[in-house]
Amino acid sequence: MSDTIFKAQNLKKQFKKFKVSTFNTVTYMPLNGLNMEIHQGSIYGFVGKNGAGKTTLMRVIAGLVIPDSGTVELLGKTTSYELYRQKAFINGIIDSPALYPHLTAREHLTICCIQKGIADRSCIDLALKIVNLEGKDTEAKKVRDFSLGMKQRLAIAMALLGRPKLLFFDEPLNGIDPEGIADFRKLIKRLNQKFGITILISSHILKELDQLASCYGFISNGKMLEQISSEDLKEKFNRFLEIKTDDAEKTEKILRTEFKIDKLEVLEENTIKIYEKINKSKNIMRTLINHDIGIEEMKEEGEDLENYYISLINKTS
Ligand SMILES: Nc1ncnc2c1ncn2[C@@H]1O[C@H](COP(=O)(O)OP(=O)(O)OP(=O)(O)O)[C@@H](O)[C@H]1O
Ligand SMILES: [Mg+2]
Repeated sequence: MSDTIFKAQNLKKQFKKFKVSTFNTVTYMPLNGLNMEIHQGSIYGFVGKNGAGKTTLMRVIAGLVIPDSGTVELLGKTTSYELYRQKAFINGIIDSPALYPHLTAREHLTICCIQKGIADRSCIDLALKIVNLEGKDTEAKKVRDFSLGMKQRLAIAMALLGRPKLLFFDEPLNGIDPEGIADFRKLIKRLNQKFGITILISSHILKELDQLASCYGFISNGKMLEQISSEDLKEKFNRFLEIKTDDAEKTEKILRTEFKIDKLEVLEENTIKIYEKINKSKNIMRTLINHDIGIEEMKEEGEDLENYYISLINKTS
């Protein structure tokens, strides 16, 4: 079986709206020949400016928008009947979740089980546990007394019922506090690593996405600009390691002889810049300390996701 969970080829979608003020029709093209591929087991970071077409694409995956042309493949299936059946294996949250203020989390999950025809209700306990909404006090609370983060966790619990293979989240970090964002990150990583769920997530908070995604899709004006794995992206970042010690001469010698690093430069104030791909920074630190060299500063710098995205957008606009 292919390891592709979702594939879109040359997707096009046009909306026409009649404007009473001008008596003219305005055309929007949220998808304009979009190609996209999400591999099984990945956390796919979907990035693009406002109006780029991210939500529309998620609506296509959810079956809420039918493209005008192009092909959609979901878990290896392409015909509309098969796609409809595959919907059982995907779930997600677009916009804010629709919840009933007067019901508890467990009551929401029970309704979901009924809607999805799930007879075994033990999945409710598991879902509540996964999203950390279990416990007597929390379970007694009605949704109207939930924080935004709790509502989001409940929506994730609802999406988890039926054991989806693909979960999609449209800007889930909006309005969530830093602690909630960290919890969300942990939860997504756990769902991905422990339960093998593939994740598609759109966000404008690139610093957060940077800590989550295993690959990225950069979209602009309904077209995919680039799809790239986070490893390949980091290679492109031109990162360098900067070390400031109390003995630059001795440090340089150790780096060249013991670590075989050639691409380095000694700057003023005992600072050395290493331009190679470095994955041994801990080792370097340990070795320098063993040689009695005092380390004043050690930091990795270079381009980051935000800079890369902005330069990609500027190049293509
Ligand atoms: N139902 C609709 N009717 C008319 N235009 C639409 C509709 N849905 C989307 N559009 C238009 O399509 C374009 C892309 O919208 P979409 O919501 O997919 O962008 P987005 O990337 O999610 O943006 P944002 O980051 O602001 O959420 C926008 O110009 C939007 O106005
Ligand atoms: Mg959107």
